[in-house]
Amino acid sequence: MPIASLTRASSLASPPDRCLPPLPTNGRRPPPNTTWVKVGITSDFPADGGAAIKCGDVQLAVYNFTSRGEWYACQNMCPHKNAFVLSRGIIGNTGKTPKVACPLHTEPFSLQTGESLSGEGFAVEVFPVKVEGNGAFLLLPPKSQLDALLSTELHCVRDCREKNATETECALI
Ligand code: FES
Repeated sequence: MPIASLTRASSLASPPDRCLPPLPTNGRRPPPNTTWVKVGITSDFPADGGAAIKCGDVQLAVYNFTSRGEWYACQNMCPHKNAFVLSRGIIGNTGKTPKVACPLHTEPFSLQTGESLSGEGFAVEVFPVKVEGNGAFLLLPPKSQLDALLSTELHCVRDCREKNATETECALI
């Protein structure tokens, strides 16, 4: 599985070559304290597929939705069974809504809002993606906020601390 190393993007101010998809902020300014973080180069992410990255203690799934000409990102953990599998989910559409279906039990999530498209009470966190040149970037909150929300250790059903990467840097899974 292609996994990208992560480095800090330079600034929120620089406009992307393409902003894909529209930010879930519905046209409002990005939330405060968020930063565009480079998660790899576009070729790290398979066409019409996803790949997992690890930023701090958080796993995220990044999708190169080639058939829509769009990119999406969400947490890698499926909230149904706390399984870190969504990067390997099947992407597609429900009507005009892009979705990922969990590879384990096929729960579908909107890649625009994160909500379950089957009416279940599950939802996933989604993150804006932009492409600049050949770089793929996610708009992420500070590491402490991201860890508090989605830390692998918070949701791991077994003791996974020994598998954790460094605490301060983004790393390969
Ligand atoms: S673990 Fe994802 S739907 Fe069951």
